[in-house]
Amino acid sequence: MASLMAGEQGTGLHVAIIMDGNGRWATRRGLPRVAGHRAGVAAVRRVVERALDAGIGRLTLYAFSSDNWRRPASEVQSIFWLLRAFLRLEAERLRQRSVRLRVIGRRDRLTQPALRAIEKAESVTADGSRLQLYVAIDYSSRDAITRAAAAVTENLLNRRPASADLLGSLLAHTLAANGGEVDLLIRTGGEKRLSDFLLWESAYAELLFVDCMWPDFSGSDLDAALEEFSRRQRRFGALPNPRENHVPVATHG
Ligand code: IPE
Ligand code: IPE
Ligand code: MG
Repeated sequence: MASLMAGEQGTGLHVAIIMDGNGRWATRRGLPRVAGHRAGVAAVRRVVERALDAGIGRLTLYAFSSDNWRRPASEVQSIFWLLRAFLRLEAERLRQRSVRLRVIGRRDRLTQPALRAIEKAESVTADGSRLQLYVAIDYSSRDAITRAAAAVTENLLNRRPASADLLGSLLAHTLAANGGEVDLLIRTGGEKRLSDFLLWESAYAELLFVDCMWPDFSGSDLDAALEEFSRRQRRFGALPNPRENHVPVATHG
């Protein structure tokens, strides 16, 4: 398990979760959808605890997508109220456990109270080194890629035309700020799609779709997901036996 947890970049395994199914969880119980979002916050606490125990290095949680603005204003308000409460109540506990929390996604459409809660939680936990926790809020992967490309183009405007390789590595560097390559991507709630989450970063992620609704997702479900991940064989386009692969010949002089 030690090498498994090292991940591909030596910075700890990167697990990303699309926390889906809160609404259906509530509706099935005859409760308003917001009750599902509230129960979803409890699942976040459980999963962060288990991620720490399991030695995961990076955990990215999809909390609110840029397309979720299309939901009724009352649901959006409830979600942001819960997000702010989570950040306010959890920051100190996360700090004590050496978890560093960062929010990814657009910030220009968030309310001042939401922004303040995010900035406070990020600064309180800034020294955390055991687990890098990324929370995706007003996040769209296409938007993140478009913005990274725009930033890179802006940087290169006064230089000679960039090669595709240079552009690619600058883009990768810009996007790596969001936790980098995903090793394992889990989606709860039974749907089998990515819904604009970490499209670039998941190029070689192992995908796991589970039927359980997010509020029911437990620490042992995370263990089971890691167990499944450990059984997958990752090849990154090469052959399974390293000796059979092309090794670039060192050129001298
Ligand atoms: C995921 O649960 C949480 C957010 C998108 C904010 P949903 O609210 O999408 O729950 P379902 O998919 O409707 O059950
Ligand atoms: C994805 O779930 C976003 C989050 C979990 C935050 P959605 O419920 O919004 O995705 P779709 O609409 O079913 O694709
Ligand atoms: Mg959903």
